[in-house]
Amino acid sequence: WTSGFYPGSMWLAYELTGDEALAKEARKYTDRLQDMQYYTGNHDLGFMMFCSYGQGIRLKPEPTDSLILIHSSESLCSRFRPEVGLIRSWDFGDWSYPVIIDNMMNLEILFEATSLSGDSTFYNMAVSHADMTLKNHFRMDGSSYHVVDYDMRTGKVRSRCTAQGYSDESAWARGQAWGIYGYTMCYRYTRQLKYLEQAEAAYEFVCTHPNLPEDLIPYWDFDAVNIPHELRDASVAAIMAAALYELSMYSNKAEYKETADKVMHSLSSSDYRSKIGENHNFLLMHSVGSYPHGSEIDVPLIYADYYFLEALKRKRDCDIEAKSKSVQK
Ligand code: GLY
Repeated sequence: WTSGFYPGSMWLAYELTGDEALAKEARKYTDRLQDMQYYTGNHDLGFMMFCSYGQGIRLKPEPTDSLILIHSSESLCSRFRPEVGLIRSWDFGDWSYPVIIDNMMNLEILFEATSLSGDSTFYNMAVSHADMTLKNHFRMDGSSYHVVDYDMRTGKVRSRCTAQGYSDESAWARGQAWGIYGYTMCYRYTRQLKYLEQAEAAYEFVCTHPNLPEDLIPYWDFDAVNIPHELRDASVAAIMAAALYELSMYSNKAEYKETADKVMHSLSSSDYRSKIGENHNFLLMHSVGSYPHGSEIDVPLIYADYYFLEALKRKRDCDIEAKSKSVQK
């Protein structure tokens, strides 16, 4: 699921610096993903193809980008069953039709595919997925479950549980960040207020949580049992910051941008941002892939870097807009 993040990081670094060598590197590694447009083995088409080709078509398009994004979306849609109204995330495990909160991130490619092709099928599936997730994935306090399993014939919820969190009822930190980002992005394409409100509710859960540390870099799970002696997850903070800069554009509340700025300040400190040439050349230290699987524990992760770069770009966009507004006044 992570193969789009290296080319995507190169695209974002190119956008931030204007360095043509970075665009060349981005294109080289984007094009290596070409065959994935026909992959149907899981829901991660959005992560893989939109973070790479989606950035490429925005910044330096090639004639084939559009068709590759449309094919990728068709592959993703092959995992949608109308009886359930959602895209199936995984084919492994004891579940019938598992859908994970992360899957919200894969909807962006579908919204774009409708713009590129004029075919509203992609848009409609994305909206159906967002609506069903909104209905079934969230708790009263605004937090989300990681996995919801559906009956593939009736669409009824069979169970709610976790795969990467501390427990079924806990709030896995990256899942909360995917929710904030996912619903903010859905609002961008649909302007449906309920999506904006869901993003705000998910943010409220995180920012008012007693286990959110002062530097705003969350522990890997908000309910992990040994807090404050648990690991932080910088990837969560980076995803959240990128989402909050966008959320701040849709709201008069100053808090979203202020929080994002504070998160970026922490991530840019020597506690999380590595020195050049160290940390295997990644930008950020201290992320967690999957704690229960003992996988990628307290390491740099490419998606932490990707969302950190996206947050930097969005911060720049917000600052430019704020400046132009103050000049107009
Ligand atoms: N989508 C996988 C993860 O967030 O770990």
